[in-house]
Amino acid sequence: MLTLLKLLKDGRFHSGQALGAALGVSRSAVWKQLQHLEAELGLSIHKVRGRGYQLAAPLTLLDPAEISARAPSCEWPILVFNSIDSTNAEALRAIERGQSAPFLVLAERQTAGRGRRGRKWVSPFAENIYYSLVLRIDGGMRQLEGLSLVVGLAVMQALRGLGISGVGLKWPNDVLVGQQKIAGILLELVGDPADVCHVVIGVGINVNMQMTDEVDQQWTSMRLESGKAVDRNHLVAELGLMLQTYLNRHQAGGFPAIQAEWEQNHLWQGRAVSLIAGVSQIDGEVLGIDVQGALRLKVNGVEKVFSGGELSLRLRDDS
Ligand code: BTN
Repeated sequence: MLTLLKLLKDGRFHSGQALGAALGVSRSAVWKQLQHLEAELGLSIHKVRGRGYQLAAPLTLLDPAEISARAPSCEWPILVFNSIDSTNAEALRAIERGQSAPFLVLAERQTAGRGRRGRKWVSPFAENIYYSLVLRIDGGMRQLEGLSLVVGLAVMQALRGLGISGVGLKWPNDVLVGQQKIAGILLELVGDPADVCHVVIGVGINVNMQMTDEVDQQWTSMRLESGKAVDRNHLVAELGLMLQTYLNRHQAGGFPAIQAEWEQNHLWQGRAVSLIAGVSQIDGEVLGIDVQGALRLKVNGVEKVFSGGELSLRLRDDS
């Protein structure tokens, strides 16, 4: 099926006969594979009598060799899947199988992409980036402090580097343009955080997606912001380089070395917000973050500090 996709990815017409010859199968077998592509990957294929088959839009697939050539200092192996439940889930399985870190898992599509707080992450084929970088942490808790916020900064800088303006952060680790989400981050940890553990840094970026009715929050994509299609291999390479820079700074100086830069890029600094924790809600004003990346809120005139993966912020109507 993948060979057929590679033949079609130029977006031109290909006759059933030519496709069959290239694949060494009959025209009816080509027809079946085309139906699979449509059903399994959600692709739309034009069929025109006398001309053949054409993808509705040309595709550029993820290419580990191109990514490595663009970011030679990122020496981690890259595993690319056409379709997987979740790159984070696959990364966790690879750790379990004994794959040595660092390594990177990418997918063209996720069938059960995971978001924060039990949400799903909408992951159509070959449109966006589904990225899970696995690191081994053996320096104890300090290396984990504020890590997801550090990743947010790296993602934001990678997007700015590719020309997306107006990108900023929302505590703890949403990457937004205005009020619309362009990227999300989900860190998952296995092992003993006080000793040796592995962290899966999951990053989803809306890249070339222009339409979906499945996302249940305000969203945008790099293409919608810039009006241009984005080369995903270039973006994966830039993200790797940016993560390397920020993770090195974090390792050398801890989260305090990054705290001020994070606050400068916090879109909701000083805003009136509600902090949502399950069914409870706390209203306050954002003061900033502390040296561990926890949120500092002024609640009824008193500073309070909040941390935890299940928390989320909303702007208050009177903000
Ligand atoms: C969020 O809810 O904001 C976090 C979204 C994280 C999505 C990414 S896509 C790659 C990786 N694999 C997953 O299943 N989730 C993360």
